[in-house]
Amino acid sequence: MNQDVNSLLAQVDLFSELDHEEMAQVAGVVQLRSLAKDTTIFNAGDPADAVYIVATGKVKIVVTSTDGRDFILTILGAGQVFGEMALLESAPRSAAVITASQVELLTIHRQDFHRLLGSTPSISRKLLAILSRRLRRANSKMESLAYMDVAGRLARYLLDLARDHGQKLGNGWIVVRRPTHSDIAHSIGTSRETVSRMINEFEEGFGLVNKGKFTYIAEHLLD
Ligand code: CMP
Repeated sequence: MNQDVNSLLAQVDLFSELDHEEMAQVAGVVQLRSLAKDTTIFNAGDPADAVYIVATGKVKIVVTSTDGRDFILTILGAGQVFGEMALLESAPRSAAVITASQVELLTIHRQDFHRLLGSTPSISRKLLAILSRRLRRANSKMESLAYMDVAGRLARYLLDLARDHGQKLGNGWIVVRRPTHSDIAHSIGTSRETVSRMINEFEEGFGLVNKGKFTYIAEHLLD
């Protein structure tokens, strides 16, 4: 077995309850590949034959409106799975996925994925929990798009970003590297100029401060 793949699999939440033998089965069916930044992995509407796990780097999940505007549903990072919806529903891809950095990707083909789901209940349980968490997050996003002004949407976006991708500094603060202002704008339904202006308006007293490409968030805001 490939040692690289084993250590990457050990970080994946979906597989965190597997015993040694089950992990070996997964390692036997995954393929590892490297992709450059801004590579389209697939487009919305494409037929689906695999599920993917981000090993390193970040990917954007993007839907495009009929008039050609992109909306970023979310950004996924190391250890997170995508491409499961089309396989579970036997439907085309629901969104496009594009690399936001250099990415190492683990691929599991359709038949192997279905076999693993059937033989390993903990993978199915974990997948349901992941889907449920994503639905919860999508509900919260719908609420913020419907009822919050841009400043509120931006604050919630940065909190979610810190929760998903932040690192604790040990002094009561969490740091997270922000996506580009253009990507943030496409995630909260506003313009890049508005994001750039507002990013500098948050003040330390609120527990949320932006410095350079990083955002610092007081841990208690995520409770
Ligand atoms: P699939 O439809 O196969 O291809 C696009 C993928 O994007 C989808 O599977 C999910 O893995 C992922 N995806 C779609 N919508 C969301 C969302 N709201 N939050 C997180 N991931 C999503």
